[in-house]
Amino acid sequence: MSTTVDHCSFCDKHKDRVGKLIVSHTVAICNECVDLCGNLLKDNKKSTQSKTDQVAVPDPRSVKDYLDQFVIGQDLAKMVLSVAITNHYKRISDEEHVLDKSNILMIGPTGTGKTLLARTLARYLDVPFVIADATCLTETGYVGDDVESMITRLYAAADGDIERCQHGIVFLDEVDKIARRSESAVVTKDVSGEGVQQALLKLVEGVKCRVPAIGNKKNSTETVEIDTTDILFIAGGAFVGLDRIVQNRVQGTSIGFGANLSSAKHTKPMEVTPDDLVRYGMIPEFVGRFSNCVSLQDLDREQLISILTQVNGNMISQYQWLFDKDNVKLEFDADSLDLIVDRTLTTRTGARGLHSELERILLPHMFDLPTYRAMDILRITISKNLVNTPTTLLLQENT
Ligand SMILES: Nc1ncnc2c1ncn2[C@@H]1O[C@H](COP(=O)(O)OP(=O)(O)OP(=O)(O)O)[C@@H](O)[C@H]1O
Ligand SMILES: [Mg+2]
Repeated sequence: MSTTVDHCSFCDKHKDRVGKLIVSHTVAICNECVDLCGNLLKDNKKSTQSKTDQVAVPDPRSVKDYLDQFVIGQDLAKMVLSVAITNHYKRISDEEHVLDKSNILMIGPTGTGKTLLARTLARYLDVPFVIADATCLTETGYVGDDVESMITRLYAAADGDIERCQHGIVFLDEVDKIARRSESAVVTKDVSGEGVQQALLKLVEGVKCRVPAIGNKKNSTETVEIDTTDILFIAGGAFVGLDRIVQNRVQGTSIGFGANLSSAKHTKPMEVTPDDLVRYGMIPEFVGRFSNCVSLQDLDREQLISILTQVNGNMISQYQWLFDKDNVKLEFDADSLDLIVDRTLTTRTGARGLHSELERILLPHMFDLPTYRAMDILRITISKNLVNTPTTLLLQENT
């Protein structure tokens, strides 16, 4: 015996009140309920997916290959990072967490790629990533950014997905600036340095902190709990003067000698021991939590040229893109590139210096781009002269 079903079995609406009613022998479902169920299934899939996706363990070689596309040189740092990342995600894919968490400390002169490495790594892993400047941090209770605010930002970077946030990466920049100063040093505001290091310890180790909820939770006072145990912390700093501490240890000289060493170039990565860092002013507990320590090298001439012209999204291609917008072709002759690198090497600002050099050289041209186009000047070749004295082509045309 068959009965005719004319109501949705889920919402009980009559078939005349809905767009479509799909009828089986004894039950029926309307188009609205089908949509609702579809959305529920999608959400469910998303949350189970995020659990497994985020613990996918990468292959160190693929990580390094990816980093090679965007970061020139720094091979040792890339290897250390690739292995550390692999171990980290191996560790968190295992419920029992047999391995201890080992966060990463990158030491290296300014403009050598510390931030770039961390940022590229996060992009490869497709995990939420935030940069927190250690100099802006204060101990809880003081005015300024307290250490937990970085977790709030990570949670926002994860679009309010708690699970994703808990597998993210925090890059702690300028950690050398929160070093404790030796007793003999002039006491300035750095008395708080040690306090900030202390405050960071708990967070790095793993703590449950509450942050304001975001997303569809309308009530602004609502908070969610984030466990920082599986968040990877990468710290970076220039640690100016650390090379002297290392040299003194290696050569067995006492501090004060070898003063000329601080201006020496790091052509080989420094081998830094935890003890060196403690001498520098980091507290032992802090050093202990960043057991993967690697130092970056100064970039040489060839590497700087590659950063200008070869690496993915290189600086010159970025400016060429800007000039292209005005239909003007931008070129550099070989001599001009050499000169730009020479000038950068003297400033000792790493690849950062290249950027300011290019800005200085290209400023007059960028200012006149619309006029160039109007006057049919559709190609600019930067020569040595234009590097030494950046001038608009309009003056040259007029003379
Ligand atoms: N090894 C590198 N390969 C490619 N580009 C680099 C490299 N190092 C630096 N750069 C370029 O220089 C810019 C600054 O580098 P980055 O921010 O990584 O420096 P940093 O080491 O973090 O310096 P700081 O200590 O001043 O923060 C980057 O945006 C990038 O364009
Ligand atoms: Mg940086």
